[in-house]
Amino acid sequence: MRELRPWQWAVRAARHLLLLLLSVLFLGEAGSTLRTQPPRRYTPDWQSLDSRPLPAWFDEAKFGVFVHWGVFSVPAWGSEWFWWHWQGERLPRYELFVHENYPPGFSYADFGPQFTARFFHPDQWADLFQAAGAKYVVLTTKHHEGFTNWPSPVSWNWNSQDLGPHRDLVGELGTAVRKRNLRYGLYHSLLEWFHPLYLLDKKNGFKTQNFVSAKTMPELYDLVTRYKPDLIWSDGEWESPDTYWNSTEFLSWLYNDSPVKDKVVVNDRWGQNCPCHHGGYYNCQDKFKPESLPDHKWEMCTSIDKMSWGYRRDMTVSHIMNESEIISELVQTVSLGGNYLLNIGPTKDGLIMPIFQERLLAVGKWLSISGEAIYASRPWRVQKENNTKAVWYTSKGLAVYAIFMHWPENGVLTLEAPITTSTTKVTMLGVQGPLKWTVGLKGGLLVSLPRWAPSALPVEFAWTVKLTGVK
Ligand SMILES: *[C@@H]1O[C@H](CO)[C@@H](O)[C@H](O)[C@H]1NC(C)=O
Ligand SMILES: *[C@@H]1O[C@H](CO)[C@@H](O)[C@H](O)[C@H]1NC(C)=O
Ligand SMILES: *[C@@H]1O[C@H](CO)[C@@H](O)[C@H](O)[C@H]1NC(C)=O
Repeated sequence: MRELRPWQWAVRAARHLLLLLLSVLFLGEAGSTLRTQPPRRYTPDWQSLDSRPLPAWFDEAKFGVFVHWGVFSVPAWGSEWFWWHWQGERLPRYELFVHENYPPGFSYADFGPQFTARFFHPDQWADLFQAAGAKYVVLTTKHHEGFTNWPSPVSWNWNSQDLGPHRDLVGELGTAVRKRNLRYGLYHSLLEWFHPLYLLDKKNGFKTQNFVSAKTMPELYDLVTRYKPDLIWSDGEWESPDTYWNSTEFLSWLYNDSPVKDKVVVNDRWGQNCPCHHGGYYNCQDKFKPESLPDHKWEMCTSIDKMSWGYRRDMTVSHIMNESEIISELVQTVSLGGNYLLNIGPTKDGLIMPIFQERLLAVGKWLSISGEAIYASRPWRVQKENNTKAVWYTSKGLAVYAIFMHWPENGVLTLEAPITTSTTKVTMLGVQGPLKWTVGLKGGLLVSLPRWAPSALPVEFAWTVKLTGVK
């Protein structure tokens, strides 16, 4: 666990002041020099790109909804890796599934026309995401299957305008999401499992860039100029280094000259050497969950269906995350300085199954009471209680929030980390009036919780105690 003591802040501030003073002394007309300096430009190398400060909206947002939607939503069986398991790995259960359910000679491309999005109402989706308390939404614009959910000019006959929906899904959802003041992120897979040019480059040991110049780069630039995303969620980087993908060239354009240069946020999947090391915020692996406070902004992405990101018809309730699991993961993530990106997979016709709706709405209901401890919060000097079951801390301004997952049987919550003062006040989010407390035996405090029936409490899981006047 990390903490920054007041004297460390003082040293930092003094250092900044000294630098400013030196520049005034040595630059002569420093005032005007500083004011007229052209905006900083980034060079296409990680040292420069990694030094870009992350636009503040991302850390403040804390919670987003991830949407995996594509042609894989048509077979909707196993997972969104259907094509790969079937024709890349030739897994017998996938071969059997196709044999038993589709006519002889059926190809993956034959799923395309069945991706109809017939009942896709982007405003309904966006209403749901807003009611879930999400501050950003990330949609798969193109997964590893290569099908683009927008009219990409370089995805000939394998895009949502020419085939299937005959609609610009990326554009339509973006409009609906932005109407509600949510940020819009675009997931984009660098690789495409079976694209002939990708396979050619792979055969050449990634010494050629046919695929990058014909497909990846034109599409990334197109997505940015067309939809002006707030976030680019890159994926599919793992088979080759960033030098093959030309990621640093793209990112330097994105940060210097693109229409979204001031607001755009990216993740870390820009080449096999990048995750957890380079880019904007870090995803590291899928469902990454650090043990202690990382020193770099990060995001945990996870899926309500534990077995798949895309919709699958063979889903059973035992593989669905329950409400308390979702909320405790969100709390733990935010306490450790991360954002939580929770995934759902809509059906081929654009419906979101009620089980996903229910889970998302449960998060929204919890956030409507507890959001004060989540949105725009900062990690506190301590993240977690050691001796009380599952208590996580966040902070905002002068307030410290202790979010506890288990209601203590004796109705007294023990917090050892906060140091009380003569001005300490304790309340519970969603409950009127102060709570009684006493100093604990080993320091900290003992909080007397309201003696109410569970149904009278403001939330069913993860209650939040707000402390002010503590150190
Ligand atoms: C990659 O970047 C290099 C250096 O800027 C450039 O010469 C090359 O054309 C780029 N390749 C692609 C495919 O964009
Ligand atoms: C939720 O799931 C977790 C993990 O599987 C389990 O331990 C817990 O008992 C479940 N809670 C409820 C309320 O079903
Ligand atoms: C919990 O334990 C760790 C490791 O022993 C220690 O560094 C930390 O200060 C403890 N936190 C609290 C709240 O006591």
